[in-house]
Amino acid sequence: MPEPTRDEIAGLVRPGRVHRRVYADPAIFETEMERIFGRAWVYVGHESEVRAPGDFVRTRIGRRPMVMVRHEDGNIRVIHNQCAHRGAMVVAKDRGSAKQFECCYHGWTYATDGRLIHVPLRHGYPAHFDPDDPGTAMVAAPRVDSYRGFVFASLFADGPSLADFLGYMTTSFDDMVDRSPDDEIEVAGGVFKHAYDGNWKLYLENLCDAAHPIFVHRSSIDAARAQDDSVHTTGAGEIAVRQMRQNGAPHEFWREQVGIWTYPGGHAFLGDYHDDEKLVAASGDPAFAEYLAALEAQKGAEETRRIMEVTRWNSNVWPNLSFMSQFRQLRVVHPIAVDRTEVHTYAFRLKGAPAKMFEDTVAFANVTNGTGSPVLTDDLETYGRIGSGVTSAGAEWIEVGRGYETDRPDGKGGVEGVDSTSEVYIRNMYDAWLGYMAGP
Ligand code: FES
Ligand SMILES: [Fe+2]
Repeated sequence: MPEPTRDEIAGLVRPGRVHRRVYADPAIFETEMERIFGRAWVYVGHESEVRAPGDFVRTRIGRRPMVMVRHEDGNIRVIHNQCAHRGAMVVAKDRGSAKQFECCYHGWTYATDGRLIHVPLRHGYPAHFDPDDPGTAMVAAPRVDSYRGFVFASLFADGPSLADFLGYMTTSFDDMVDRSPDDEIEVAGGVFKHAYDGNWKLYLENLCDAAHPIFVHRSSIDAARAQDDSVHTTGAGEIAVRQMRQNGAPHEFWREQVGIWTYPGGHAFLGDYHDDEKLVAASGDPAFAEYLAALEAQKGAEETRRIMEVTRWNSNVWPNLSFMSQFRQLRVVHPIAVDRTEVHTYAFRLKGAPAKMFEDTVAFANVTNGTGSPVLTDDLETYGRIGSGVTSAGAEWIEVGRGYETDRPDGKGGVEGVDSTSEVYIRNMYDAWLGYMAGP
């Protein structure tokens, strides 16, 4: 498959439009794996998943299978999940704890930093074989760094620091962690995994799309509106009904009251489109009142007020992460092929908060991210329809120009949509995409 030239790639993005090849061409996908996922900081997991030395979770950087593991020196390593002998995947469990990793095929054994430490039947290997050669290791990502517990890795030894890469988006991570009375959050519960037959870029493109809910989620909006309030007054049922009803807010609301902000590097966040009466039940919910009291006891009334006034919905950290503080959800995008994508969804517990807060997190996860979710399934259907639509010639240029003429600087180094349904965050992702794909 010939690699597309930089000029050819640059020609696929025009002001407010992109060519359908960016979603459909396997050669573009291969180049993305190399130039974007081979260079950017990519989210690989949360520190709470690997608390003790030897704790590990499987993850990916682009298509490359990786293991995030806490080494015996206390540092987190991210190593290629591939045996240096004949290439077998070494770690087959999704998570666990191990003193060392032994390959299932011929028993080569690696330390938790990837070094080869034991080779059975050593006498049979030729003279040039040197187990101390770094080339016989499970190769470690050259750079691993974290921000407030969120761990990123880069396969590129040079390039901007994680702090520079995240820029203003650090405030979204702050928003997530600040909500914990103990200033600490942890991954809890299981992992939802889903897949769709479409390009990886479609996923983040949808999570800040304020123009789609009223169309895509019509069936669940109608069902929730028809639902009698008296049936579901508390807990998961209440959250589900309120969330689905709010997806049907009128067009003027989506245009004028939500807000969309974008930052260099392809990152963005959408404003919260619920208020306490509609979803969080803050004022009337005794568990939420208990939570606020715990937060105030630790952080004081003024800081608690400041934290509660941050109202963001999904924050996208391009290229592979989207998370949301209000219900502590986090989604990781794994590109599999040009027309196949997996998404893994995690829930977080706020340390020091009443147990009911995490019950609401799980309830919300079931409504919006579960495999039986009446909301998520609509989105998956849409990605699949785009996936099949973009493969055929015809409409060559895809329109991503909504809001193009009214977007404006936000005064913090970013650009905001005056109209909340602006596709500015998609154009912003393509600015970053071009930088990696067609830049030096
Ligand atoms: S492939 Fe791993 S030991 Fe042979
Ligand atoms: Fe949706």
